[in-house]
Amino acid sequence: MKSIILSCLISISCFASAETLISADANAGKALVEKNCVSCHAESFGGDGSGIYTRELRKVKNLKELVAQIRSCHTMIGLKWFEDEELNVAKYLNQSYYKFTE
Ligand code: HEC
Repeated sequence: MKSIILSCLISISCFASAETLISADANAGKALVEKNCVSCHAESFGGDGSGIYTRELRKVKNLKELVAQIRSCHTMIGLKWFEDEELNVAKYLNQSYYKFTE
């Protein structure tokens, strides 16, 4: 179990770079976010909930933190996304809102 956790931690830092997002699918990510993530964010931020990504004191400061936050949100609601799904979502959110280059 420990080694699974460790390899996840390592893969966050290895995978969350601009290069690894090149092959990710932003449209698939968008569909996942719309299906699973919007309602809760919209409850606290109104509208389509995207205000959570653009608020002044947003939490996420780089791609690595973005993937980590996506992971903690989907884990919280009991989804078991694969890493490629996390990366698809990261690509979508980054292209649409965050615009990080690293
Ligand atoms: C049950 C409610 C809930 C659901 C469902 C949820 N989130 Fe969140 N999300 C939150 C809350 C609350 C925060 C703000 C956390 C904070 O400020 O510490 C947040 C913050 C975030 C942020 C960081 C915003 C910032 O400040 O930069 C991202 C990215 C995010 N969520 C992605 C997702 C994704 C992807 C999903 C779908 C798997 C999802 N969330 C589903 C409640 C939720």
